[in-house]
Amino acid sequence: MQKTNFQIAIDGPVAAGKGTIAKTLAGKLHFLYVDTGAMYRAAGLLAVQNQWQINLDNQDKIAAALAAAQLHLENILDENRQLMTLVTLNGEDVSEKIRTQEISEAASKVATLPKVRQVLVEKQQHLATKFNVVMEGRDIGLRVLPDAQLKLYLTADLAERAKRRFEQNRLLEPNLTLEEVKKRVQERDQLDMSREIDPLTIVPDAIVLDTTHLDIETVVNNIVGLVQTHEAST
Ligand code: DC
Repeated sequence: MQKTNFQIAIDGPVAAGKGTIAKTLAGKLHFLYVDTGAMYRAAGLLAVQNQWQINLDNQDKIAAALAAAQLHLENILDENRQLMTLVTLNGEDVSEKIRTQEISEAASKVATLPKVRQVLVEKQQHLATKFNVVMEGRDIGLRVLPDAQLKLYLTADLAERAKRRFEQNRLLEPNLTLEEVKKRVQERDQLDMSREIDPLTIVPDAIVLDTTHLDIETVVNNIVGLVQTHEAST
């Protein structure tokens, strides 16, 4: 009988440490790392590039363009030998462009459109049929991988998350103050948690980890321990 792939679902609010933890974990376990937020960012960029308003009236147009687009995520090592996701949209490297404040906001908006979610959820589920995955996002445990062997919900205090995001985006957007970043983090969380379709929630079978005072190594080692416990019990 064919062995099913191992799926680790990681959800949580903006800048809770999901990306760094998921990447490190995937590296240790030799699993595929999937940054689903990057896909919503690419969808937001597609709408912005076409100057389409992001609303329900335009969702068919956006979803069709997205379904027809060549959207590729490739994990590569950067100059510091850290894993990063190279995102190409219709042949263009958009890895940096999708990280700006404008596209972060467009991504949160486009993520409220059911047809856009449907296109991306299918792509994500397809990847999980082919590889063992560490997949991070907002609806992974709830919608994308409801049968994942391990579901985690990562969170941290708002002040800590704003500080992390501020430091991550410093080079990209040097004019933004910490206060502005904090306000925008809060607004995006609000959108992600209050949207009608698949809002960010803690699913009942998720393990909640607060990373405010934890270093990455500790969190990753804890999770590796959980994976080993699961493997030993099956
Ligand atoms: O994780 P991120 O900040 O890169 O995600 C960008 C936006 O995409 C975020 O506002 C929420 C949305 N998103 C989502 O709705 N579902 C996912 N699985 C991943 C991200």
